[in-house]
Amino acid sequence: MAGAVLLVSLLLISCLAASCHGATLSSLQKTLIVTASRKNGQVLKAGEDSINLTWSFNNSFLAMTDSAYKTLKVKLCYAPISQQDRAWRKTEDNLVRDKTCQHKIVAKPYRSSTSHNNFTWKVQRDVPTGTYFVRAYAYNSADEEVAYGQTTDANKTTNLFQVEAISGRHVSLDITSICFSAFAVVSLFGFFLLEKRRTKNSQEK
Ligand SMILES: *[C@@H]1O[C@H](CO)[C@@H](O)[C@H](O)[C@H]1NC(C)=O
Ligand SMILES: *[C@@H]1O[C@H](CO)[C@@H](O)[C@H](O)[C@H]1NC(C)=O
Ligand SMILES: *[C@@H]1O[C@H](CO)[C@@H](O)[C@H](O)[C@H]1NC(C)=O
Ligand SMILES: *[C@@H]1O[C@H](CO)[C@@H](O)[C@H](O)[C@H]1NC(C)=O
Repeated sequence: MAGAVLLVSLLLISCLAASCHGATLSSLQKTLIVTASRKNGQVLKAGEDSINLTWSFNNSFLAMTDSAYKTLKVKLCYAPISQQDRAWRKTEDNLVRDKTCQHKIVAKPYRSSTSHNNFTWKVQRDVPTGTYFVRAYAYNSADEEVAYGQTTDANKTTNLFQVEAISGRHVSLDITSICFSAFAVVSLFGFFLLEKRRTKNSQEK
């Protein structure tokens, strides 16, 4: 009992100290301009097609700077149409609870010089079919979100692209590899049986 209480308090304390700061999206400055080479409605094949991404500080924010930005994380996010009736992709203002952007694309040190702020991402094979946009978060030295930018507008209606999950070709490849592993297990088992019988035979002699 005392142990459980201690555990809960420890969890609570580490939560307060670490990631439970609970930054909200609405509290972040939308100072980043993020672009993706894919245009509205385009369909990308998971595991095959790539996307070129760039990000930069929006210079219309004259009174602000990006000097506090230390790292940048780019994520693939579900558009509202792919969130409907799926609580596990729900958008929440609190970023700890938000499930809009579940696929990490890249994390990089933030650079002010725009010539370094690009990344080519191959759509990973585990990305499900759906409609997406890309969002980038800037983090300060305390690893807290301080700014963001995204390839779509605030209502997430423009510049959305589609991902089509792995095709039949890949599925059959996967089936082949499953068959190979099953074959390996069966051979191993057979080898054990053979070995057992052999030792039994030699004991009987
Ligand atoms: C991404 O950039 C590479 C290199 O600059 C280029 O070869 C490729 O065509 C670009 N892809 C798209 C989808 O624009
Ligand atoms: C830069 O910020 C200004 C002011 O918020 C905004 O009107 C403009 O659309 C932004 N530019 C881009 C390319 O997002
Ligand atoms: C992309 O970033 C690399 C360094 O990460 C840089 O060498 C290259 O010039 C950049 N490309 C563009 C088109 O900005
Ligand atoms: C977003 O949608 C709301 C209500 O549907 C509308 O009032 C607002 O103008 C829209 N904003 C943009 C940037 O399209």
